[in-house]
Amino acid sequence: MTAENAIWRATVLTLFPEMFPGHLGHSLAGKALADGLWSLDAHDIRSAAADKHATVDDTPFGGGPGMVMRADVIDAALTGVAGAGTDQAAPRPVIYMTPRGAPLTQARIAELAAGPGVVLLCGRYEGIDERVVEAWNMEEISIGDFVLSGGEPAAMALIDAAVRLLPGVIGSKLSFAEESFEGGLLEYPHYTRPRVWRDREVPEVLLSGHHGKVDAWRKAQAEKTTEERRPDLWNRYAAKNL
Ligand code: ADE
Repeated sequence: MTAENAIWRATVLTLFPEMFPGHLGHSLAGKALADGLWSLDAHDIRSAAADKHATVDDTPFGGGPGMVMRADVIDAALTGVAGAGTDQAAPRPVIYMTPRGAPLTQARIAELAAGPGVVLLCGRYEGIDERVVEAWNMEEISIGDFVLSGGEPAAMALIDAAVRLLPGVIGSKLSFAEESFEGGLLEYPHYTRPRVWRDREVPEVLLSGHHGKVDAWRKAQAEKTTEERRPDLWNRYAAKNL
């Protein structure tokens, strides 16, 4: 297989490889995985530990609570992953999932989906020795301003969002055109039958058959919702479009 037609590869380094594929084995991503549109391998970080107790962590220099994952163990685990970092024909970015990372965006997901794949490092304990993060030039990504007990659900979220953008996973490109974050807005609300449900009616304009009016109404709804819920997105949108 050449680099151009190689499938998108996700490799996950974790202390809990049995958590995978988890939800990624179901629904859209699961079907695409079964169809060979992408691949997933979860590696146990512990198998890279050198001592007979398979030690992966130690107490933090400087004191403080919790344990820190060792640089030498993470380095050994990454060295065993083909295409991790920059040393291969189709290098995959090494991404450390951490609440200290840059917020994950749909734009970054689209870039990652367009590349050869990702190598995701899931932390546990208090974190990972900073030196191995630097030495591997890792990208640090957060999925939101909250703290998970480990990076695994964050890795799954990133993979899920990337896989649905891969060619052939979702039938129509039109499905993406109007979804949230396209054009910098949250998506407009949706309605289907019945037309009246518990005395609540579907907005009249959606029944009009007038595409121009429907589009205008949806755009206004998207703008209103974005302004109310996401001042950060709204300010960027307003600066560009209004
Ligand atoms: N690990 C723990 N919390 C996380 C978060 N919010 N995002 C990414 N990785 C994490």
